[in-house]
Amino acid sequence: MQYNKVTEKHILALRQIVGETDIIVTGEDLAVYSRDYTEDLSFIPEIVVKPQTPEQISSILKICNDSNIPVTPRGAGTGLSGGALPVHGGVVLSMEKFNRILAIDERNFQVTVEPGVVNEALQQAVKEKGLFYPPDPASKGSCFLGGNIAHASGGPRALKYGTTRDYVLNLEVVLPTGEIIWTGANTLKYSTGYNLTHLMIGSEGTLGIVTKIVLKLIPHPKQTLLLLVPFGSPEKACQAVNGIFLAGCNPSACEFVEPEGFRLSAAMQQLTFDIAEGIEAYLLIEVDGNDSDEMMKVCETISEVLYAHDSGEILFAQTADEKEFFWRLRRGIGEATKLNNTYKEEDTVVPRAELPRLYRGVKEIGLRYGFRTVCYGHAGDGNLHVNILKDELSEQFWNQDITHAIIEIFTLCKELKGTLSGEHGIGLVQKPYMRVVMPAFQLDLMRKIKLAFDPNFILNPGKIF
Ligand code: LAC
Ligand code: ZN
Repeated sequence: MQYNKVTEKHILALRQIVGETDIIVTGEDLAVYSRDYTEDLSFIPEIVVKPQTPEQISSILKICNDSNIPVTPRGAGTGLSGGALPVHGGVVLSMEKFNRILAIDERNFQVTVEPGVVNEALQQAVKEKGLFYPPDPASKGSCFLGGNIAHASGGPRALKYGTTRDYVLNLEVVLPTGEIIWTGANTLKYSTGYNLTHLMIGSEGTLGIVTKIVLKLIPHPKQTLLLLVPFGSPEKACQAVNGIFLAGCNPSACEFVEPEGFRLSAAMQQLTFDIAEGIEAYLLIEVDGNDSDEMMKVCETISEVLYAHDSGEILFAQTADEKEFFWRLRRGIGEATKLNNTYKEEDTVVPRAELPRLYRGVKEIGLRYGFRTVCYGHAGDGNLHVNILKDELSEQFWNQDITHAIIEIFTLCKELKGTLSGEHGIGLVQKPYMRVVMPAFQLDLMRKIKLAFDPNFILNPGKIF
């Protein structure tokens, strides 16, 4: 695609819309908006604007659409597939000023928020009213709800409660051509033509800019129990995961972690965590509910399954602090891996019972190509984050040959009836692999949908396809 550059004339017009302070045109600050959490990638935008209202966004998009200037929407920049990177330069549209929780409707178990609200801030605000917003990406302390919608984000509790997708009822969206629409209704059911709400979720900022979000809430469970379970064999750990469900249990989280993941996370956060000799994997399992006796029974059943799969001694977190300690350790893995090594992050996902085959396949491919991986993730969802480490590999291998290995990994996902991303999205870095999981005409269908919304391809170009 060919785009025009931002000129003085455009800057003047944009300045009139957002005001003097909410625009960045030169200097160091542009670099802040050139990166997200994806590898070490950086693309400097020509200009950053920080609008405050849907009407301002509408005016900005009209100017860019008329002048053929690319616009890259941005949340908190915690994405792992490069969705917020302004690969064609142009305008970065930062949603950081949309940071208000507008209304908590306790009567209807709903909340209306702006997209720049931090996930955990919303969770806390509704918890104070006894309500629960379950989606909890590892970056929940900093990621924006708008970004969660862009990527259909999950997190550990997606296992029992579903992903962001399952909580969005309605969205206010500014289209690339400037119109402002509501995609659906504030209802638990919707059978009124094509579901544009769900089309927006996971569209990675390519179809429109979300400016208001209506989310479903549920009653907050009163208690949680947390088990940390070591295994000598990672494959046995993966097999145990399915065993838990076959035994009739429904944990609120079931995470798989290789010891290296915990080791790196502990080192980064200066936490003391001893990994005993011979431990090759951990499961971190949470059970939640309102009735302690019932929850203890579930944990007993889970323990039987775990021991039957040769687990080591199960550690029950005793206090709220201890639970938080294990979750911190778990949430830090991605960032710690990134800090420690150059890496590529793959977000493989397969039906849960196929997880052992996926894990074995990933390790076998790594051995054959000669790279190390740190694997961890949401085992109960069959969602394994595969972090490929550069270590001492050559630049040639890292930048080119490795794509063959990644294609093999995703081909395996496809064979197992899974796909190449469960929750991190396609963005820039997974774009070359879309053809592994779908035929060209299917990608073309997506492109046609994109064109219906964005005829000049100005919104987040260079992403998904
Ligand atoms: C996690 C992020 C990387 O699960 O999705 O830690
Ligand atoms: Zn994850």
